[in-house]
Amino acid sequence: MNAVILGIESSCDDTSAAVIKDGYLLSNVVASQAVHEKYGGVVPELASRAHQQNIVPVVHEALRQANVGKEDLSAVAFTRGPGLMGSLLVGVSFAKGFARALGIPMVDVNHLAGHVLAHFIKVEGEDSVQPRFPFLCLLVSGGNSQIILVKAYNDMQILGQTIDDAAGEAIDKCSKVMGLGYPGGPIIDKLARQGNPKAFAFSKPHIAGLDYSFSGLKTSFLYSLRNWLKDDPDFIEHHKADLAASLEATVVDILMDKLRRAARQYGISQVAVAGGVSANNGLRQAFRDHAQKYGWTIFIPKFGFTTDNAAMIAMAGYFKYRDRDFCPMDAPAYSRVSLK
Ligand code: KG4
Repeated sequence: MNAVILGIESSCDDTSAAVIKDGYLLSNVVASQAVHEKYGGVVPELASRAHQQNIVPVVHEALRQANVGKEDLSAVAFTRGPGLMGSLLVGVSFAKGFARALGIPMVDVNHLAGHVLAHFIKVEGEDSVQPRFPFLCLLVSGGNSQIILVKAYNDMQILGQTIDDAAGEAIDKCSKVMGLGYPGGPIIDKLARQGNPKAFAFSKPHIAGLDYSFSGLKTSFLYSLRNWLKDDPDFIEHHKADLAASLEATVVDILMDKLRRAARQYGISQVAVAGGVSANNGLRQAFRDHAQKYGWTIFIPKFGFTTDNAAMIAMAGYFKYRDRDFCPMDAPAYSRVSLK
């Protein structure tokens, strides 16, 4: 069966469209929104307006790059949630109109499942080893920090998750406190490469089980910085790289500690990472170190599949299409929805 899936992603501040044919990626176009930078965070109203401007040209470009005509499409897959409602509505409404006009089925995709299933995207001419079920996936982004037990494409269980802030959110906020730009993740990552990860110690949470917490780290970072600034008003300037490296090392330690525990508890040694924070070099290195030390088989996504993209939505949509798991025209978007 030939299946050509158009994926649409618009859950936050990236408008993206991608085409996947039988599991192989043909195109993945992402229009990011620079408009939020000066506000130090995503402004929902501006995000939905930008999606409206971007969606048609982005889809057009994805089809052009894939060399696929509208009439070749088997289905339209779209992110139904979780995300910002105004942003989601643009993608969901577009997908409905497009699918209806072409007379093809629609497939709704959970954004979080999309991140996990990005590990199954195949690219022509590239060797890719895909995880076997069951495997663990650490999903870390601006809005989520979860350990997921992936039993099948359509069967995922959250073993642990943050009880307050997400890892990316904490990094972004600490970066903001240091007066660095937005989003802070990539800036902290770059600075951290030149700093000493042991220069400063910040508090780590003591949470039972496999759940995470990052709000304490944020507060500890803020209060420590305030104290140091009293003695040296240029403290941040003098210690930027060490602060970034120590912050990153603390976040990575917190993440890996629970992930190790989950791997031990469930007897699983295939471990993947996904989401925006999986672009972080310190976290990627920690995965490689764990692979060596604990014999894990690790799955680290290509940089292009770490942040929000429609390739992962098309991939997840492909699996549902194969199962003929379609969604009705009256399906609403969900701003909040869990994996299960
Ligand atoms: O998955 P994502 O693109 O968006 C959602 O949250 O849905 O993740 C964005 C998050 C932001 O917090 C951003 O700062 C973080 O991923 N991020 C990074 C890096 N690149 C992006 N965090 C650490 N290191 C990076 N290199």
